[in-house]
Amino acid sequence: MKIALGSDHAGFPLKEAIKAHLEAQGIPYTDVGAYDTTSVDYPYQAKKACDLVVAGDCDKALLCCGTGIGISMAANKIKGIRAACCTDYFSAKFTRMHNDANALCLGARVIGEGAALELVDVFLHTEFEGGRHQRRVDQLSELENL
Ligand code: RB5
Repeated sequence: MKIALGSDHAGFPLKEAIKAHLEAQGIPYTDVGAYDTTSVDYPYQAKKACDLVVAGDCDKALLCCGTGIGISMAANKIKGIRAACCTDYFSAKFTRMHNDANALCLGARVIGEGAALELVDVFLHTEFEGGRHQRRVDQLSELENL
């Protein structure tokens, strides 16, 4: 499993915490920035990270901005990306089980680091259930081609 990490300036501190958390678990990642708290716009930060997932270079993206919302909006405009902005454990788990989400978006100004890392862990280690959910995920892909 390889992870694409991306953030804007507001998400930078949380991205750094996630990076250390992945390193502690031996999970490889590519960090597309931000690399400091200099202001940078979240749409292209989302694209840089999500392009790695779409290309197959990474399996999932972890994206951080202030709320997690803007970067999730950007990520969901990229074909092949199913991004979920989560603030609770249940959502982070079920967006993997039911939506086969491949990007988790977190708001550095919304949730604490400890909670965010719990969401990262459950997101990375929960499998898609398939079955009836596959049909719905296929329908999400169809919407990209309308
Ligand atoms: C940056 O100030 C902030 O707007 C951004 O990080 C994010 O919260 C947008 O959704």
